[in-house]
Amino acid sequence: MKFTAVILAAGKGVRMRSQLPKVVHRVAGKPMVVHVTDAARQVGVERIVLVVGHGRQAVEDLFAPGVVEFAVQEEQLGTGHALMQAQEKVGQDETILVLAGDTPLLQAATLQGLIDYHRESGAVATVLSTEVEDPYGYGRIIRDASGSFKAIVEEKDASEADKIIREINSGMYCLQVQDAFSALAGISASNAQGEYYVTDILQILKDEGKKVEIFRMDAREDIYGVNDRVQMAQAEEILRRRKNEALMRNGVSIIDPRSTFIDSEVEIAIDTIIYPGTIIEGRTVIGSGCEIGPGTRITSSIIGNNVLIENSRIKEAQVGDECTIGPFAYLRPQAILHRGVKVGDFVEIKKSTMGEGSKAPHLSYIGDAIVGKGVNIGAGTITCNYDGINKWETVLEDGVFIGSNTNLVAPVKIGTNSVTGAGSTITRDVPANTLAVERAEQKNLKKRSKGAAKK
Ligand code: UD1
Ligand code: CA
Repeated sequence: MKFTAVILAAGKGVRMRSQLPKVVHRVAGKPMVVHVTDAARQVGVERIVLVVGHGRQAVEDLFAPGVVEFAVQEEQLGTGHALMQAQEKVGQDETILVLAGDTPLLQAATLQGLIDYHRESGAVATVLSTEVEDPYGYGRIIRDASGSFKAIVEEKDASEADKIIREINSGMYCLQVQDAFSALAGISASNAQGEYYVTDILQILKDEGKKVEIFRMDAREDIYGVNDRVQMAQAEEILRRRKNEALMRNGVSIIDPRSTFIDSEVEIAIDTIIYPGTIIEGRTVIGSGCEIGPGTRITSSIIGNNVLIENSRIKEAQVGDECTIGPFAYLRPQAILHRGVKVGDFVEIKKSTMGEGSKAPHLSYIGDAIVGKGVNIGAGTITCNYDGINKWETVLEDGVFIGSNTNLVAPVKIGTNSVTGAGSTITRDVPANTLAVERAEQKNLKKRSKGAAKK
């Protein structure tokens, strides 16, 4: 059976007051519409068709080529009109799942419930409904005397009697394609908003004597549609909570979930402890037995097992097992730390590799360097990697000991087991097993006594 999801995402989202179309705004680090496409993919749809229009380029740019298909709605004349634009793409399919792009809390289990109900009931159309405390703004589900589907009435078209109904239309439907598109051809825009409503399909099918079902479930959170930034923050809070709870159930300790922000794609293994004030973003993967935070932000990085990270910023870096980072360290893109590396306070590392057991414990800048195993970098050491035009490489071979406050003027290479004297500015390569000192000899002169008359 050909089964496709059609996601309506052509609207502007006026209430967002944004230059960007609503569905590209990020919730828990992921664009709203991507939350929806991810949920659809999890229930095994073969294809996903996104109906785009307003700011369509920004929506299309969210997806790698070929991952989803696009149908264009040039003018936004309503949800029914939006679905019509997908007919060319899905007209030959059997069943479609129709969703909106602004429901980032949608979960696969809810969709699966709708799909199963639709299949088992043999309906031509099934709408997912739920009951909410405050139905304001939603389409209300009107049932007939026998409790079956009668109509969906939008807020703006609702009578006082309709308005008190708390069972609402989620905006999610399972539709048999042939029936849906023939009904769609018959809808009009004669309503308070002058729009073509997708909901009218159901009423037409019902009037034709076809089987239209309501699948009602407790899905208040899942169907939550975001229309403005206040609602977006509420969705964010729910998604954060869900992510933290899923991690905790899987063996991660989170000391203060309210001050811990973890993006949906992040993976963390068991027995890792997350301390307060920590933000973990993007496609970060963290191993087991780590202690992360407090006050740490990690973006798109890979962290091994038993790593300690305190009050630090880590971005697009790789940290091996048993490393110790911080407090107040800054790992920048392409920092690669092998097992047991120590990066201490006020140390910045950029595009550099540090071999097993090497240490930069205090106050250093290491950029464009290849550091071997068991290297000790003394306090205050910096690589002078930039001459104003080009970046140059520093190589510290295994067992090197860099004295405190050394300037390593790149390109430069220090051979195996060599040592630099504290305070040296090293501009030339140092062979293996050598002590390199670049320092004026100390003179001890007699101190002039205070207030002595100048001659
Ligand atoms: C819609 C439903 C309402 C339901 C609610 C659930 C209709 C007529 N009403 O109302 O019954 O309770 O969703 O959240 O369907 N879109 C387009 N093109 C358009 C108009 C909208 O692609 O011309 C897209 C929007 O980008 C959005 C989705 O369709 O992702 C829903 O549109 P929106 O205007 O938010 O519908 P609601 O008024 O919320
Ligand atoms: Ca909406």
